[in-house]
Amino acid sequence: MRKKIVAGNWKMNKNAEQTEDLLNELIEKMPTETDVQVIVAPTFVNLASAVDHLEFINIDVAAQNVHQAESGAYTGEISADMLKSVGVDIVILGHSERRAIFHETDALIASKVNTALEHDMTVIFCFGEELKDRQSKNHFNVVENQLRDGLFQIEAKDWDNIVLAYEPVWAIGTGETASPEQVQEMHEFIRETVRKAFGSDIAEDVSILYGGSVKPDNAKEIFSNPDVDGGLIGGAALKSDDFIAIVNAI
Ligand code: PGA
Repeated sequence: MRKKIVAGNWKMNKNAEQTEDLLNELIEKMPTETDVQVIVAPTFVNLASAVDHLEFINIDVAAQNVHQAESGAYTGEISADMLKSVGVDIVILGHSERRAIFHETDALIASKVNTALEHDMTVIFCFGEELKDRQSKNHFNVVENQLRDGLFQIEAKDWDNIVLAYEPVWAIGTGETASPEQVQEMHEFIRETVRKAFGSDIAEDVSILYGGSVKPDNAKEIFSNPDVDGGLIGGAALKSDDFIAIVNAI
């Protein structure tokens, strides 16, 4: 069943106290009756406290990354088992900042996806073209390759634990949003690409989120597209009023 999802990627923002404050505000303002799955992704050091804090609330907690190995000499890294042990079973992978700043390749992302799935985690798989790709009209190719090289090694049964997040790099943190037509056109293409590789049932069931400068004033228009099932929110997820307004816009 395709789900409606709004996920907040907090990136490297909010210390322990600020995390608690923002969570308290979200708890207070969250609509009680909603069929939207709401997810927040604080930094690693605040995941355990976020899980505790949200124990009785309908908000799930995600990590922003995971290492592909089980354990070992990987200074500074965090394993899937560690995330699961503090109650986190969702992870964002392939974010454009991980790809660009930390040089994560499709092959590395694919191995992280495999590890996360082996641990029964849900993966929010991010991908999207850069401005130069769109200007050279190569954006469909880029997106298709990212899906094939980073994700399509999985098996049909794994799709229950996959959420797709299309995030055109030129729209992330820039205030520049893809137009609703551009978003729908790409989401339709993504669903078709999944359909060709894995069949109609999986393509119809997978949730495809849009990310890139989603704000309260543009969320409704973006979410009203038939192939858009929610959003991955950066900047606007750091303000409770904005984030809740986006949740309510679905
Ligand atoms: P933004 O970030 O909403 O600030 O553009 C989105 C993201 O990076 O997931």
